[in-house]
Amino acid sequence: MGIDGRTVRLAAIAGFAVFGCLPGAPVPEARAAEVVVYSARHYGQEAAFDAFTRKTGIQIKLLNGSTAELFERLKAEGEKTPADLLVTVDAGNLWNAARAGLLLKLDAPELTANIPAHLRDPENRWFGLTMRARTIMYNPKKVGPGELSTYEALGDPRWKGRLCLRPSSYIYSQSMLATMLKRHGEARTEEIVRGWVANKPVLINSDTKILEAIAAGQCDVGVANSYYLARLVAKDPSFPVSPFWANQATTGTHVNVSGAGVTAHAKNRANAIKLLEFLSSAEAQQLFADTSFEYPANAQAGVNRIVAQWGKFKQDDINVAAAGEFQAAATRLADRAGYK
Ligand SMILES: [Fe+2]
Repeated sequence: MGIDGRTVRLAAIAGFAVFGCLPGAPVPEARAAEVVVYSARHYGQEAAFDAFTRKTGIQIKLLNGSTAELFERLKAEGEKTPADLLVTVDAGNLWNAARAGLLLKLDAPELTANIPAHLRDPENRWFGLTMRARTIMYNPKKVGPGELSTYEALGDPRWKGRLCLRPSSYIYSQSMLATMLKRHGEARTEEIVRGWVANKPVLINSDTKILEAIAAGQCDVGVANSYYLARLVAKDPSFPVSPFWANQATTGTHVNVSGAGVTAHAKNRANAIKLLEFLSSAEAQQLFADTSFEYPANAQAGVNRIVAQWGKFKQDDINVAAAGEFQAAATRLADRAGYK
């Protein structure tokens, strides 16, 4: 999704701020209560935003962009930024935003009660709002679930020429490697990655295309985020790929978040906190789960019907901040191990 109605309204408001003081220009009206959101999350949030406005009367002005664009924009705007809330995907991105000083540390008992500790910043600058599992996907016509166990075991020679992976340059791969680094240390993680590389994986830079490649028989196993499979199954209930919950007997399946933080220079700080608290509530979390096929971060909300049929799984409960802490080390390790 690109620019929507709200984005256009934000552009119009910005224009008004520039030209509003010119002689003969219309007198500005008293400003309605609002929150300006910069979002790199492009699906599944509108219903929750609309529910917030209905409940509170606070308008949301939304500017969509890529994570990199919004990050640069926030840095360039500095104290003058109109943004009150930054929404983005991947804990690695949230961690980078916090480290760059773009997010405000919150004293937020409601947020810490709603969001489990491993899905939020230990310093309360960002909070996971949805949880996604990055797990093993397989073609059940070619692979039995009994042949699968862990991410590590995808380095077994039996998967030679049968494995699809996302390139290591993509943040989802980096975050997974970063978590493995924190769990297993450098030497063991490098050994695991070398195992994958030895199997000559087909590298595809799209989770959806990885799943389609498994369905088409180009590879038999791969790794992808859970909601991409749910979207494909929603369109075609017989889509021939199944998820396998990785590492259930050991560290748990790798999870990540999309999340948000109040910006360091928020002009509508109180309303931004109110919005963030609402987004963490079971009501909003249910809307996220129903529209985006992700797992709610707040355990009081239920999961979507398609996702529910995959059953419960043990998640890796390492704090997702590891994705940021070990991001640079993960990139170096991938280079060393020949994982492109
Ligand atoms: Fe995604």
